[in-house]
Amino acid sequence: MRIVGILRDPETRVGEVLDARYELVGLLESGAVGDVYRARDRRLEFREVAIKLLKPETPTDQVARFKREALLAGGLSSPHLVGVSDFATMPDGQSYLVMELLQGESLLGLLQREHRLPVQRAAHIADGILAGLEAAHTAGVVHRDLKPENVFVVAGAGLRDHAKIVDFGFARLFGKGVDALDVTGEVRVVAGTVSYMAPEQLRGERLDYRADLYSAAALLFRMVTGQLPYPVADANAGMAQAARFRLAHLDEPPAKLRVVAPDLDAYERLEALLDAALQPDPADRPPSAGHMRLALAEAVGITMPPQASSPGSGAGVWQNPASGLNDLRLVPQAEPPPLPPSPFERRVRVLKVLAGGVVAVVSAWFLWRAIR
Ligand SMILES: Nc1ncnc2c1ncn2[C@@H]1O[C@H](COP(=O)(O)OP(=O)(O)O)[C@@H](O)[C@H]1O
Ligand SMILES: [Mg+2]
Repeated sequence: MRIVGILRDPETRVGEVLDARYELVGLLESGAVGDVYRARDRRLEFREVAIKLLKPETPTDQVARFKREALLAGGLSSPHLVGVSDFATMPDGQSYLVMELLQGESLLGLLQREHRLPVQRAAHIADGILAGLEAAHTAGVVHRDLKPENVFVVAGAGLRDHAKIVDFGFARLFGKGVDALDVTGEVRVVAGTVSYMAPEQLRGERLDYRADLYSAAALLFRMVTGQLPYPVADANAGMAQAARFRLAHLDEPPAKLRVVAPDLDAYERLEALLDAALQPDPADRPPSAGHMRLALAEAVGITMPPQASSPGSGAGVWQNPASGLNDLRLVPQAEPPPLPPSPFERRVRVLKVLAGGVVAVVSAWFLWRAIR
Protein backbone atom coordinates (compact mmCIF):
# COMPACT_ATOMS: atom_id res chain seq x y z
CA MET A 1 0.00 0.00 0.00
CA ARG A 2 1.59 3.25 -1.15
CA ILE A 3 0.96 6.56 0.62
CA VAL A 4 0.63 9.55 -1.69
CA GLY A 5 1.93 12.92 -0.51
CA ILE A 6 2.15 14.19 3.06
CA LEU A 7 -0.43 14.92 5.79
CA ARG A 8 -1.87 18.43 5.52
CA ASP A 9 -4.66 20.35 7.17
CA PRO A 10 -7.32 20.71 4.44
CA GLU A 11 -7.92 24.37 5.44
CA THR A 12 -4.35 25.28 4.50
CA ARG A 13 -5.03 24.40 0.87
CA VAL A 14 -7.55 27.21 0.45
CA GLY A 15 -6.04 29.65 -2.06
CA GLU A 16 -4.22 26.93 -3.96
CA VAL A 17 -4.79 26.66 -7.72
CA LEU A 18 -4.96 23.13 -9.10
CA ASP A 19 -3.47 22.59 -12.55
CA ALA A 20 -3.38 26.39 -13.07
CA ARG A 21 -7.16 26.25 -13.43
CA TYR A 22 -9.22 25.51 -10.31
CA GLU A 23 -8.75 27.97 -7.46
CA LEU A 24 -9.81 26.58 -4.06
CA VAL A 25 -11.79 29.33 -2.32
CA GLY A 26 -13.21 27.58 0.74
CA LEU A 27 -13.49 24.23 2.47
CA LEU A 28 -17.04 22.83 2.42
CA GLU A 29 -16.59 19.40 4.03
CA SER A 30 -13.72 17.28 5.12
CA GLY A 31 -14.71 13.68 4.45
CA ALA A 32 -13.12 10.31 5.06
CA VAL A 33 -11.57 10.05 1.64
CA GLY A 34 -11.70 13.51 0.16
CA ASP A 35 -12.07 17.14 1.11
CA VAL A 36 -14.78 19.05 -0.71
CA TYR A 37 -13.95 22.66 -1.61
CA ARG A 38 -15.81 25.52 -3.19
CA ALA A 39 -13.63 26.54 -6.12
CA ARG A 40 -13.49 28.82 -9.15
CA ASP A 41 -12.75 27.64 -12.65
CA ARG A 42 -10.31 30.18 -14.12
CA ARG A 43 -10.79 28.84 -17.61
CA LEU A 44 -14.56 29.33 -17.55
CA GLU A 45 -14.77 32.91 -16.36
CA PHE A 46 -14.36 31.93 -12.72
CA ARG A 47 -17.51 29.84 -12.75
CA GLU A 48 -18.03 28.34 -9.29
CA VAL A 49 -17.56 24.60 -8.97
CA ALA A 50 -17.12 22.06 -6.18
CA ILE A 51 -13.89 20.10 -6.02
CA LYS A 52 -13.44 16.86 -4.16
CA LEU A 53 -9.74 16.56 -3.56
CA LEU A 54 -8.39 13.24 -2.49
CA LYS A 55 -6.56 13.47 0.80
CA PRO A 56 -2.79 13.42 0.20
CA GLU A 57 -2.31 10.53 2.61
CA THR A 58 -4.87 8.38 0.80
CA PRO A 59 -3.76 4.78 0.31
CA THR A 60 -3.68 3.69 -3.32
CA ASP A 61 -6.59 1.23 -2.97
CA GLN A 62 -8.81 4.19 -2.09
CA VAL A 63 -7.35 6.17 -4.96
CA ALA A 64 -8.75 3.41 -7.18
CA ARG A 65 -12.19 3.82 -5.55
CA PHE A 66 -11.98 7.55 -6.17
CA LYS A 67 -11.18 7.02 -9.83
CA ARG A 68 -14.09 4.63 -10.14
CA GLU A 69 -16.36 7.27 -8.62
CA ALA A 70 -15.21 9.76 -11.27
CA LEU A 71 -15.73 7.25 -14.04
CA LEU A 72 -19.19 6.16 -12.95
CA ALA A 73 -20.58 9.50 -11.79
CA GLY A 74 -19.15 11.31 -14.81
CA GLY A 75 -21.14 9.08 -17.14
CA LEU A 76 -24.47 9.76 -15.45
CA SER A 77 -26.85 12.53 -16.25
CA SER A 78 -29.95 13.44 -14.30
CA PRO A 79 -31.14 16.59 -12.55
CA HIS A 80 -31.16 14.45 -9.40
CA LEU A 81 -27.54 13.27 -9.57
CA VAL A 82 -24.67 15.66 -8.92
CA GLY A 83 -23.05 16.73 -12.18
CA VAL A 84 -19.40 15.71 -12.56
CA SER A 85 -17.45 17.59 -15.22
CA ASP A 86 -13.80 16.71 -14.78
CA PHE A 87 -11.34 14.40 -13.13
CA ALA A 88 -7.59 14.82 -13.05
CA THR A 89 -4.46 13.55 -11.37
CA MET A 90 -1.83 16.14 -10.59
CA PRO A 91 1.91 15.56 -11.12
CA ASP A 92 2.31 14.75 -7.38
CA GLY A 93 -0.16 11.89 -7.82
CA GLN A 94 -3.11 13.55 -6.09
CA SER A 95 -6.47 13.29 -7.84
CA TYR A 96 -9.52 15.50 -7.79
CA LEU A 97 -13.07 15.49 -9.07
CA VAL A 98 -14.81 18.60 -10.39
CA MET A 99 -18.56 18.82 -9.75
CA GLU A 100 -21.33 21.34 -10.06
CA LEU A 101 -21.46 23.42 -6.88
CA LEU A 102 -24.64 22.61 -5.01
CA GLN A 103 -26.42 25.31 -3.03
CA GLY A 104 -28.42 24.23 -0.03
CA GLU A 105 -27.66 21.63 2.61
CA SER A 106 -27.27 17.92 3.03
CA LEU A 107 -30.33 15.92 3.99
CA LEU A 108 -28.47 15.07 7.19
CA GLY A 109 -28.31 18.75 8.14
CA LEU A 110 -31.98 19.21 7.30
CA LEU A 111 -33.03 16.20 9.39
CA GLN A 112 -30.84 17.18 12.32
CA ARG A 113 -32.54 20.55 12.36
CA GLU A 114 -36.14 19.54 11.61
CA HIS A 115 -36.08 16.01 13.07
CA ARG A 116 -39.21 15.08 11.04
CA LEU A 117 -40.59 16.43 7.79
CA PRO A 118 -44.24 16.77 6.74
CA VAL A 119 -45.24 13.84 4.51
CA GLN A 120 -45.68 15.91 1.34
CA ARG A 121 -42.28 17.53 1.73
CA ALA A 122 -40.58 14.22 2.49
CA ALA A 123 -42.33 12.57 -0.47
CA HIS A 124 -41.12 15.34 -2.78
CA ILE A 125 -37.52 14.84 -1.63
CA ALA A 126 -37.87 11.04 -1.82
CA ASP A 127 -39.27 11.31 -5.34
CA GLY A 128 -36.14 13.24 -6.36
CA ILE A 129 -33.92 10.60 -4.78
CA LEU A 130 -35.83 7.84 -6.59
CA ALA A 131 -35.63 9.73 -9.89
CA GLY A 132 -31.85 9.99 -9.42
CA LEU A 133 -31.67 6.27 -8.64
CA GLU A 134 -33.82 5.52 -11.66
CA ALA A 135 -31.28 7.26 -13.90
CA ALA A 136 -28.28 5.61 -12.21
CA HIS A 137 -29.87 2.16 -12.32
CA THR A 138 -30.83 2.59 -15.95
CA ALA A 139 -27.14 3.26 -16.64
CA GLY A 140 -26.28 0.07 -14.73
CA VAL A 141 -24.88 1.89 -11.70
CA VAL A 142 -25.89 0.99 -8.15
CA HIS A 143 -24.98 3.65 -5.57
CA ARG A 144 -24.63 1.33 -2.52
CA ASP A 145 -24.12 4.13 0.01
CA LEU A 146 -27.37 6.04 0.10
CA LYS A 147 -27.72 7.92 3.40
CA PRO A 148 -28.63 11.46 4.48
CA GLU A 149 -25.02 12.68 4.14
CA ASN A 150 -25.05 11.65 0.49
CA VAL A 151 -28.24 13.44 -0.46
CA PHE A 152 -28.09 17.16 -1.02
CA VAL A 153 -31.26 19.22 -0.74
CA VAL A 154 -30.80 22.02 -3.22
CA ALA A 155 -32.50 25.35 -2.73
CA GLY A 156 -32.30 28.54 -4.74
CA ALA A 157 -32.32 29.33 -8.48
CA GLY A 158 -36.02 28.55 -8.63
CA LEU A 159 -35.60 25.18 -6.92
CA ARG A 160 -36.96 24.07 -3.59
CA ASP A 161 -36.12 20.82 -1.84
CA HIS A 162 -34.60 19.49 -5.04
CA ALA A 163 -32.79 16.27 -4.11
CA LYS A 164 -29.41 15.46 -5.65
CA ILE A 165 -27.51 12.29 -4.88
CA VAL A 166 -23.78 12.78 -4.33
CA ASP A 167 -20.86 10.48 -3.56
CA PHE A 168 -20.53 7.59 -5.97
CA GLY A 169 -17.45 6.43 -4.09
CA PHE A 170 -18.95 3.02 -3.37
CA ALA A 171 -20.92 2.79 -6.57
CA ARG A 172 -20.51 -0.21 -8.82
CA LEU A 173 -21.67 -1.31 -12.19
CA PHE A 174 -23.94 -4.22 -11.47
CA GLY A 175 -24.60 -7.33 -13.51
CA LYS A 176 -20.90 -7.71 -14.24
CA GLY A 177 -20.08 -10.22 -11.54
CA VAL A 178 -18.72 -7.64 -9.12
CA ASP A 179 -21.90 -6.96 -7.17
CA ALA A 180 -20.99 -8.39 -3.80
CA LEU A 181 -19.83 -5.94 -1.20
CA ASP A 182 -16.45 -6.61 0.25
CA VAL A 183 -17.33 -6.09 3.91
CA THR A 184 -13.83 -6.82 5.06
CA GLY A 185 -12.33 -4.37 2.59
CA GLU A 186 -13.31 -0.96 1.40
CA VAL A 187 -16.49 -0.36 3.40
CA ARG A 188 -14.62 -0.49 6.68
CA VAL A 189 -13.06 2.89 6.05
CA VAL A 190 -16.25 4.92 6.39
CA ALA A 191 -17.89 5.03 9.79
CA GLY A 192 -21.63 5.15 10.21
CA THR A 193 -22.47 3.83 6.76
CA VAL A 194 -24.31 0.70 7.85
CA SER A 195 -27.42 2.44 9.23
CA TYR A 196 -29.15 2.55 5.83
CA MET A 197 -27.67 -0.59 4.32
CA ALA A 198 -29.83 -3.35 2.92
CA PRO A 199 -29.63 -6.74 4.67
CA GLU A 200 -27.99 -8.47 1.69
CA GLN A 201 -25.33 -5.74 1.69
CA LEU A 202 -24.70 -6.12 5.42
CA ARG A 203 -24.32 -9.85 4.99
CA GLY A 204 -21.81 -9.33 2.20
CA GLU A 205 -24.02 -11.14 -0.32
CA ARG A 206 -24.49 -10.33 -3.98
CA LEU A 207 -26.47 -7.17 -4.36
CA ASP A 208 -28.06 -5.17 -7.11
CA TYR A 209 -30.01 -1.92 -7.50
CA ARG A 210 -32.68 -3.20 -5.11
CA ALA A 211 -30.23 -2.54 -2.26
CA ASP A 212 -30.57 1.18 -3.14
CA LEU A 213 -34.37 0.86 -3.05
CA TYR A 214 -34.15 -0.48 0.49
CA SER A 215 -31.91 2.43 1.54
CA ALA A 216 -34.25 4.93 -0.14
CA ALA A 217 -37.17 3.50 1.83
CA ALA A 218 -35.16 3.70 5.07
CA LEU A 219 -34.41 7.35 4.24
CA LEU A 220 -38.07 8.11 3.58
CA PHE A 221 -39.10 6.34 6.78
CA ARG A 222 -36.65 8.49 8.71
CA MET A 223 -37.82 11.67 6.98
CA VAL A 224 -41.47 11.14 7.96
CA THR A 225 -40.98 9.64 11.44
CA GLY A 226 -37.63 10.97 12.64
CA GLN A 227 -36.33 7.44 13.16
CA LEU A 228 -35.23 4.34 11.29
CA PRO A 229 -37.57 1.36 10.78
CA TYR A 230 -35.24 -1.07 12.57
CA PRO A 231 -32.96 -0.93 15.60
CA VAL A 232 -29.58 0.73 15.05
CA ALA A 233 -26.59 0.98 17.36
CA ASP A 234 -26.13 4.30 19.09
CA ALA A 235 -24.28 7.08 17.32
CA ASN A 236 -21.02 6.50 19.17
CA ALA A 237 -20.69 2.88 18.06
CA GLY A 238 -17.91 2.13 15.64
CA MET A 239 -18.56 0.77 12.18
CA ALA A 240 -17.95 -2.89 13.06
CA GLN A 241 -20.08 -2.62 16.20
CA ALA A 242 -22.90 -0.91 14.29
CA ALA A 243 -22.76 -3.60 11.61
CA ARG A 244 -22.88 -6.38 14.21
CA PHE A 245 -25.83 -4.73 15.90
CA ARG A 246 -27.84 -4.51 12.71
CA LEU A 247 -26.92 -8.04 11.69
CA ALA A 248 -28.22 -9.30 15.04
CA HIS A 249 -31.64 -7.71 14.37
CA LEU A 250 -32.06 -8.54 10.69
CA ASP A 251 -34.70 -11.20 11.27
CA GLU A 252 -37.08 -8.73 12.89
CA PRO A 253 -39.72 -7.32 10.53
CA PRO A 254 -39.40 -3.59 9.76
CA ALA A 255 -41.36 -1.29 12.05
CA LYS A 256 -44.78 -0.18 10.79
CA LEU A 257 -45.03 3.45 9.84
CA ARG A 258 -48.30 4.09 11.66
CA VAL A 259 -47.15 2.32 14.81
CA VAL A 260 -44.03 4.52 15.00
CA ALA A 261 -45.98 7.65 13.99
CA PRO A 262 -49.68 7.28 14.90
CA ASP A 263 -50.35 10.79 13.58
CA LEU A 264 -49.77 9.38 10.07
CA ASP A 265 -52.83 7.14 10.43
CA ALA A 266 -54.24 8.24 7.07
CA TYR A 267 -51.18 6.96 5.19
CA GLU A 268 -51.99 3.27 4.90
CA ARG A 269 -50.64 3.02 1.35
CA LEU A 270 -47.41 4.76 2.32
CA GLU A 271 -46.98 2.23 5.11
CA ALA A 272 -47.56 -0.60 2.61
CA LEU A 273 -45.01 0.85 0.19
CA LEU A 274 -42.36 1.28 2.89
CA ASP A 275 -43.08 -2.18 4.20
CA ALA A 276 -42.59 -3.69 0.75
CA ALA A 277 -39.39 -1.76 0.00
CA LEU A 278 -37.92 -2.72 3.39
CA GLN A 279 -38.38 -6.46 2.85
CA PRO A 280 -35.19 -8.41 3.64
CA ASP A 281 -35.49 -10.41 0.42
CA PRO A 282 -34.85 -8.11 -2.58
CA ALA A 283 -37.32 -10.18 -4.63
CA ASP A 284 -40.14 -8.99 -2.34
CA ARG A 285 -39.34 -5.31 -2.90
CA PRO A 286 -40.82 -3.13 -5.64
CA PRO A 287 -38.98 -4.05 -8.82
CA SER A 288 -37.56 -0.62 -9.64
CA ALA A 289 -37.15 2.98 -8.56
CA GLY A 290 -39.73 3.89 -11.20
CA HIS A 291 -42.29 1.59 -9.60
CA MET A 292 -41.55 3.13 -6.22
CA ARG A 293 -42.05 6.64 -7.58
CA LEU A 294 -45.45 5.78 -8.95
CA ALA A 295 -46.47 3.97 -5.77
CA LEU A 296 -45.26 6.90 -3.67
CA ALA A 297 -47.23 9.38 -5.76
CA GLU A 298 -50.35 7.26 -5.32
CA ALA A 299 -49.71 6.78 -1.62
CA VAL A 300 -49.45 10.46 -0.80
CA GLY A 301 -51.82 11.75 -3.46
CA ILE A 302 -49.46 13.83 -5.54
CA THR A 303 -48.72 13.74 -9.24
CA MET A 304 -45.13 13.09 -10.18
CA PRO A 305 -44.24 12.53 -13.82
CA PRO A 306 -42.50 9.23 -14.53
CA GLN A 307 -38.88 9.49 -15.64
CA ALA A 308 -36.91 7.18 -17.92
CA SER A 309 -37.58 3.51 -17.38
CA SER A 310 -35.19 1.60 -15.17
CA PRO A 311 -34.22 -2.02 -14.67
CA GLY A 312 -37.18 -4.18 -13.91
CA SER A 313 -39.62 -1.55 -15.04
CA GLY A 314 -41.91 -1.63 -18.03
CA ALA A 315 -45.63 -1.62 -18.44
CA GLY A 316 -47.32 -4.04 -16.10
CA VAL A 317 -48.68 -4.52 -12.67
CA TRP A 318 -46.50 -4.65 -9.62
CA GLN A 319 -47.90 -7.49 -7.55
CA ASN A 320 -47.23 -6.48 -4.01
CA PRO A 321 -48.37 -9.36 -1.82
CA ALA A 322 -47.73 -7.41 1.37
CA SER A 323 -50.07 -4.57 0.64
CA GLY A 324 -53.20 -3.27 -0.93
CA LEU A 325 -51.19 -1.89 -3.82
CA ASN A 326 -51.96 -4.77 -6.19
CA ASP A 327 -54.16 -2.56 -8.27
CA LEU A 328 -51.29 -0.23 -9.05
CA ARG A 329 -51.15 0.01 -12.81
CA LEU A 330 -47.98 1.31 -14.31
CA VAL A 331 -48.32 3.98 -16.91
CA PRO A 332 -47.20 2.28 -20.13
CA GLN A 333 -44.19 3.99 -21.67
CA ALA A 334 -45.61 6.37 -24.28
CA GLU A 335 -44.61 5.66 -27.88
CA PRO A 336 -42.10 8.30 -28.96
CA PRO A 337 -43.54 10.68 -31.60
CA PRO A 338 -42.50 9.75 -35.17
CA LEU A 339 -39.36 11.52 -36.30
CA PRO A 340 -39.73 14.05 -39.15
CA PRO A 341 -38.31 12.70 -42.45
CA SER A 342 -34.61 13.33 -43.06
CA PRO A 343 -33.55 15.35 -46.18
CA PHE A 344 -32.55 12.05 -47.81
CA GLU A 345 -35.95 10.50 -47.09
CA ARG A 346 -37.64 13.63 -48.48
CA ARG A 347 -35.60 13.37 -51.71
CA VAL A 348 -36.53 9.69 -52.07
CA ARG A 349 -40.20 10.57 -51.61
CA VAL A 350 -40.02 13.32 -54.31
CA LEU A 351 -38.32 10.87 -56.72
CA LYS A 352 -41.00 8.25 -56.03
CA VAL A 353 -43.75 10.76 -56.80
CA LEU A 354 -41.96 11.85 -60.03
CA ALA A 355 -41.39 8.24 -61.13
CA GLY A 356 -45.07 7.48 -60.41
CA GLY A 357 -46.05 10.49 -62.54
CA VAL A 358 -43.83 9.39 -65.47
CA VAL A 359 -45.24 5.83 -65.36
CA ALA A 360 -48.80 7.23 -65.32
CA VAL A 361 -48.14 9.54 -68.35
CA VAL A 362 -46.45 6.76 -70.38
CA SER A 363 -49.27 4.30 -69.57
CA ALA A 364 -51.89 6.87 -70.59
CA TRP A 365 -50.02 7.49 -73.87
CA PHE A 366 -49.94 3.74 -74.71
CA LEU A 367 -53.61 3.44 -73.81
CA TRP A 368 -54.51 6.38 -75.99
CA ARG A 369 -52.48 4.84 -78.91
CA ALA A 370 -54.18 1.50 -78.40
CA ILE A 371 -57.76 2.77 -78.48
CA ARG A 372 -57.15 5.18 -81.35
N1 LIG B 1 -21.03 19.19 -5.45
C1 LIG B 1 -21.13 19.55 -4.17
N2 LIG B 1 -21.52 20.79 -3.84
C2 LIG B 1 -21.62 21.15 -2.53
N3 LIG B 1 -21.37 20.32 -1.49
C3 LIG B 1 -20.99 19.06 -1.77
C4 LIG B 1 -20.86 18.60 -3.12
N4 LIG B 1 -20.46 17.31 -3.08
C5 LIG B 1 -20.36 16.98 -1.80
N5 LIG B 1 -20.68 18.01 -0.99
C6 LIG B 1 -20.68 18.00 0.48
O1 LIG B 1 -19.52 17.34 0.92
C7 LIG B 1 -19.88 16.18 1.68
C8 LIG B 1 -18.90 15.07 1.38
O2 LIG B 1 -18.97 14.74 0.02
P1 LIG B 1 -18.99 13.24 -0.45
O3 LIG B 1 -18.94 13.21 -1.94
O4 LIG B 1 -20.13 12.56 0.20
O5 LIG B 1 -17.59 12.72 0.10
P2 LIG B 1 -17.16 11.53 1.08
O6 LIG B 1 -16.67 10.46 0.15
O7 LIG B 1 -16.08 12.11 1.89
O8 LIG B 1 -18.36 11.11 1.87
C9 LIG B 1 -21.32 15.87 1.31
O9 LIG B 1 -22.00 15.25 2.36
C10 LIG B 1 -21.88 17.23 0.99
O10 LIG B 1 -22.34 17.86 2.18
MG1 LIG C 1 -20.37 10.95 1.47
